[in-house]
Parts: sequence; structure tokens; C-alpha cells
Amino acid sequence: MDISDLSKAYGNTLAVDHLSLRVQSGEIFGFLGPNGAGKTTTMRMLLGLVRPTSGNARVLEMDIKTDLPKILDRTGSIIENPTFYPYLSGRDNLRAIARLTGTPYDRIPPILDLVDLTSSAGRKFKTYSLGMKQRLAVGAAMLHGPDLLILDEPANGLDPAGIVEMRDLMKRLRGEGRTVLISSHVLHEIEQICDRIVILNRGRVVVQGRVSDLLGASEALEVRIAQIDEAQRILEAVPWVRGIRRDSGRLLLDAPPECASDVTQVLAEQGLYLSGMRPQERSLEQYFLDVTGGNGQ
Ligand SMILES: Nc1ncnc2c1ncn2[C@@H]1O[C@H](COP(=O)(O)OP(=O)(O)OP(=O)(O)O)[C@@H](O)[C@H]1O
Ligand SMILES: [Mg+2]
Repeated sequence: MDISDLSKAYGNTLAVDHLSLRVQSGEIFGFLGPNGAGKTTTMRMLLGLVRPTSGNARVLEMDIKTDLPKILDRTGSIIENPTFYPYLSGRDNLRAIARLTGTPYDRIPPILDLVDLTSSAGRKFKTYSLGMKQRLAVGAAMLHGPDLLILDEPANGLDPAGIVEMRDLMKRLRGEGRTVLISSHVLHEIEQICDRIVILNRGRVVVQGRVSDLLGASEALEVRIAQIDEAQRILEAVPWVRGIRRDSGRLLLDAPPECASDVTQVLAEQGLYLSGMRPQERSLEQYFLDVTGGNGQ
């Protein structure tokens, strides 16, 4: 998928603001961002549900403006809450969709297996838990064997157990070699399943890259010391300290963790002794809050 300079304006609001990014085939790509960041709008443009104001995108090497039917043949999605027949079983709901899309019924058992609903396939949809409903929705999106899945917050509203089940399902999808575009507020989940992510804010890319690289770049050494001003001044002059900031009475150094003993030494040479130091690995959640300004800074 190749998104280039894609924008969508609603009146004066630029919901998506000149977005460019590339998703490689076979990867699980995460869309992160606070409410209103433009995640859903982007996904809707990729699926032809919303017309871009400007820019373009190629999906599965086809142009969304001219090849939409062909793209949709090979794409499955959950964008809005999908509707199912409440009084039909999970299996019969999938049959109804298969009939509509001309999909052979023999696709249904492996899909039920994939989304872990085989044992409850005969139960009425309305008796399903939210997690089961969401998994059925993923199953429905997978039914016609798409190469690409676009899932807007599939873990939304799930309890911790449901989230774990959804995460396991995403890992199974990866095993199947599909390309998956997934948005979520459940950052911890994205951190574990995505190869690469983009963080959007107000329609723009704040940062994108491999999860491991982004987290690696966000490592810090947390230093506790009584003479915090003096320590900060000293450490600011040290070349391998790339950055330094204060957070509730601690110093956070942007420096490689292996420099810990050097920090101790530099300060000790000036007669300052720290009371504690530890490497701080920010979770993606903290990183997300930092780069989107969600922590009020
Ligand atoms: N149909 C619409 N008409 C007017 N404005 C819209 C419409 N759809 C979205 N917007 C605006 O576009 C911006 C982006 O919305 P979007 O739904 O894409 O964000 P999101 O990242 O999916 O947010 P959320 O996490 O809440 O789902 C918001 O400011 C929203 O109010
Ligand atoms: Mg949304």
C-alpha cells in the first residue's frame, strides 16, 4: 500500500493532512493516534467509503480512484460495527455472507477455526460475548480470502481476556501471510503485534517506524540525585548525553543504557553522588503520550 499526500477536508477541518506512508505486503501495520487523529477517515478513503480531497493511494498495487472494485475483491474490512442477524448462529451468519459474496461454504469451517468460534458456531449471534462478536466480524472480513485486511479498532470495548484473544487472532493472521492494517487505542496490544506503526495526530504523521526502533529511540536513563540543578548542568556538557529533561524530581537522560557507570563517574568527579539510577524503557503508551502531547506538555 502506498499512500501519497492524501488529504481529506471536512469544511475547515483537515481530518487527514497530506498523509504519506507505505505499508509492505505481509506486515501488520498499526495506526495509532488520539481521538480525531484521522485513523478512520484514512481507512475509509482506502476503502472508497470517502472521497479524498487531494492526493492518492495505491492499494494492492491498484489505484483507489480507478480500481476500487478490484481492490475490494481482495480486501476485507471492519470499519463500522458490522451487523449480523441476531437470531442466526455464527455459522449461519457466515453462510449468509458467503451466499452474498459468492464464496463457497467450505471456506466457513477453517474461518471458524481461525477465529476460535468452532465450538460456539451453532449458538445464536445474540448470545455471543462482545469478544466473540468481534472475532466473528474478523471472520466475516476474512471469508472471501482477502490479501489485505483493514480493521478499525477490532479490540475496541473488549475486556482484557477479549483483548488477549484478539491479539492471538492477529498473530494467527500474520502466520497466514496477509497484510493487516489495524487501528487501535489499545497501545499495549499494538506494541506486541505490529511490525511497524504510524502515530497520527490531527491528521498528520507524528512518527512512523518499526516498533522496536521507536522504543529503542525512547530509552532513557533515570537519575535520582539531591543536587538536581547542578547534576543537570554537568550532564548537559557531556557529549554522549543526547538530551536531558526533568520529570518529577528525576533527571531523564537520553543516553545509551551502557553509559550508566560513566554517568556515576562524571558526577562523582564533581563531588555529586546519585541516590539512584535505572534504565527506563518507555512503553509505547508513554511514547505515544509524549509525541502526541497527551501528557499535557
Ligand atoms: N463525516 C464527517 N464530517 C465531518 N467531520 C468529520 C467526519 N468524519 C470525521 N470527521 C472529523 O475528522 C477528524 C478525524 O476523524 P476520524 O474519525 O478519522 O478520527 P479517528 O482517528 O478515527 O478518531 P477515533 O479514535 O475517535 O476513532 C475529526 O476531527 C472528526 O471530527
Ligand atoms: Mg476512528
